[in-house]
Amino acid sequence: MNLPQPTAPEPTGAPRPIVVYATMFGATELVAEQVAAALGRELGVEVPCRDLAWLEPSALAGFDLIVLGCPTWNIGQLPSHLEARLPELAALDLAGTRLALFGTGDAVGYPDTYLDALDIVAEALLPTGAEPIGRWPTAGYAFLASRAQRGDEFLGLGVDEDNEPERTAERVAAWAAKVAAEYRARAARAALQPA
Ligand SMILES: Cc1cc2nc3c(=O)[nH]c(=O)nc-3n(C[C@H](O)[C@H](O)[C@H](O)COP(=O)(O)O)c2cc1C
Repeated sequence: MNLPQPTAPEPTGAPRPIVVYATMFGATELVAEQVAAALGRELGVEVPCRDLAWLEPSALAGFDLIVLGCPTWNIGQLPSHLEARLPELAALDLAGTRLALFGTGDAVGYPDTYLDALDIVAEALLPTGAEPIGRWPTAGYAFLASRAQRGDEFLGLGVDEDNEPERTAERVAAWAAKVAAEYRARAARAALQPA
């Protein structure tokens, strides 16, 4: 892959976030751009937004907040190109990095597997040591079952561009604020710990 890769800023104490996404037909890319813009406003820094299909996983080293978005496809599956990249991503050492997930899905067409990909990705990336943040309430979503559900929360933000695109901007803005707050709280806690 010869495309220019993102480079993490030097660690100066400022947040070093990046948004990465997988997409089949572009819905997740549009949401990812909104997430990057909203997070940039919250954290006061530029947030790069990159398609995982063109990203060398090693380029993620040095970012301290990774936001990963993906659709669920084929009834509870990942897009095949993301599935193929997961082992490389899972092999990264992301200790000290926060990981926030968002998913696009169709709760009307696929109510039994709504946002399942979030759980597949979360589980696959456990070995990286990244600390998950950014869970999101299931209240206000109409679905029957989701692997991504934990009690009354999803593992990350859920967005339904197929059925309720009018809610996306408000959801993204509120979730970005939550992710930024959780990121800051953990950064403050880490700063208090002895080296
Ligand atoms: C064949 C097919 C299978 C799908 N399976 C699911 C599913 O199991 N769960 C879900 O929440 N959404 C499912 N979706 C909906 C997509 O996740 C949704 O349309 C998403 O916005 C697509 O994002 P993309 O354009 O970035 O690929 C499916 C869509 C298609 C066409």
